[in-house]
Amino acid sequence: MTVTGTLALSVFTAVLGSLEFGYNIGVINAPQKIIEEDYNATWVHRYGQPIPTGTLTSLWSLSVAIFSIGGMLSSFCVGFISEWLGRRKAMLINNLFAFIGGSLMGLSKLCRSFEMMILGRFIIGAYCGLASGLTPMYVGEIAPTSLRGALGTLHQLAIVTGILIAQILGLESLLGSEDLWPVLLGLTVVPTVLQMSLLPFCPESPRFLYIIRCQEHHAKSGLRRLTGRQEVGDMLAEMKEEKRRMDMERKVSIAELFRSPLYRQPVVISIMLQLSQQLSGINAIFYYSTSIFMKAGVQSPVYATIGAGVVNCAFTVVSLFLVERMGRRTLHMLGLAGMCICAVIMTMALALLDSVPWMSYISMLSIFGFVAFFEVGPGPIPWFFVDLCGPYVFLIFAALLLFFLIFTFFRVPETRGKTFDQISANFHQRSAGGMMDMDMDMDMDKPSTELDYLGEESIN
Ligand SMILES: *[C@@H]1O[C@H](CO)[C@@H](O)[C@H](O)[C@H]1NC(C)=O
Repeated sequence: MTVTGTLALSVFTAVLGSLEFGYNIGVINAPQKIIEEDYNATWVHRYGQPIPTGTLTSLWSLSVAIFSIGGMLSSFCVGFISEWLGRRKAMLINNLFAFIGGSLMGLSKLCRSFEMMILGRFIIGAYCGLASGLTPMYVGEIAPTSLRGALGTLHQLAIVTGILIAQILGLESLLGSEDLWPVLLGLTVVPTVLQMSLLPFCPESPRFLYIIRCQEHHAKSGLRRLTGRQEVGDMLAEMKEEKRRMDMERKVSIAELFRSPLYRQPVVISIMLQLSQQLSGINAIFYYSTSIFMKAGVQSPVYATIGAGVVNCAFTVVSLFLVERMGRRTLHMLGLAGMCICAVIMTMALALLDSVPWMSYISMLSIFGFVAFFEVGPGPIPWFFVDLCGPYVFLIFAALLLFFLIFTFFRVPETRGKTFDQISANFHQRSAGGMMDMDMDMDMDKPSTELDYLGEESIN
C-alpha cells in the first residue's frame, strides 16, 4: 500500500493538533516558579501587599488543573461535533479555541491578569480535548486498513514530540525566563495557524461522507485522492457492508445503554478507561517528572525530565515500527511487563538510596525504562499517587501493571489488520457471549477518545 501525497499531507495536518496537545501538557512543568512570581507581582500591584501563600498555591493549581477540566468537558462533545460538522470542519473550527486560548495566555502578563491565564488554560484544554478525539478519528478513517496502526501511532508520536519541544523551550536559558514565558505559552498558536491553512487542502474522511452522510460520490473522490488509485470499489464495498450492518441495527438510547446487560459491561469499562486516561498516564508523568526525579536523588531534575522526554519520543518511534509487525495486544503486554519490572527495580533503588548513593542512577534509569515501556505498551497508571505515598508506591504500580497484563491477556482482542467492521463484529460476538471485551483500535490508554468513538461505532 503506497502513501500518497494527499494522505501524507492530511495525516501531517491532523497530527499538528496532537503536537499542540503535547505542547500544552509539557509547557506548564518548568516555568512554575516564574509564573508564580508574576502572580505575586500582579497581586502586589492590585492590592498593595504580597499574595498569601495559600492563595498563590490555589491560583497555580487552578491554572494547571483547569486544563484537564476543559479537556474532559470538551472530549464528551467529540462524537456529537464530529458528526454534526464532519471531521475536517470540526478540526478547523476547533482551531479557534487554540487561537483564543493561546492569545489569552500569551497576553496575560502584559495585562497583569492571572484570570486571563486561567481562562486561557481552560480554553486551550477544551481545544486539546477535542483535538485528542478528532485527530485519531480522522487519521484512523483516512488510513488504509494495512497502515491504520502505524499511522495511528503518529498521533502519539506528535504528542510526545510536543511535550519534548515544550520542555526544551521551557529551559530558563531559552523561553522559560521571567520576560519570555508569555512567548512560551503563546507559541501554541503557531501550529494552529499552520493547521488552519493546510486543512482546506485535505479531503474529508470518506468513511464519514459515505456512512454518516450517505454521499457516495464525494466519498469516492476522497478515496481516489487518498489512495491515488482510480479503482476504489473494494474499499467502497467494505464501507457499504459496514453501513448495511449499521443500518440494520436499531439505535440505542443512552438510558438503554446503561440498562441493557449487553452494553452495560463494555460501557462501564470504557468509562473507567476514559477516566483513568484523563487522570493518569503520560500527562501526569510530565506534570510531576521533575519532582519525581528530585525525590529519586537525581542532581539536575530538569535535564532528567528532558532525558525522559527524549526516551519517550525514541520509543514511540520504536513502537511505530513494531505495531504492525507484532500487533497491539502483544506490544501492550510487553510494555506492561517491562513497566512492572521497572517499577520493582525503582522501589528497590529508592529503598536503598540512603545507604547506596549511586542508586539514584539506577532509579533514573528505571524511570527511563518505565517511560520507554509505557510507549511500547501504554499503561494506565495513576501517577499522582507518587506525591501521596513513599518509595513503596512503585510496588502498587507493579501490582497494577501485573493486573493490567493479565487483563489484556484474557480480555483484549487483537485488532491488527482488521477492518472497522471486523472489529465491531468481534465486539458483538463477545458481548453476546457474556464476555467483556473492548476495542483497542489505536491505544486504549493514550489520551484519546478512541474508545468512545469505536464504542459508538458498534452501538449505532
Ligand atoms: C511576593 O512578593 C513579595 C515581594 O514583592 C515577597 O516579599 C513575597 O515573599 C512574595 N510572596 C510569595 C508567596 O512568593
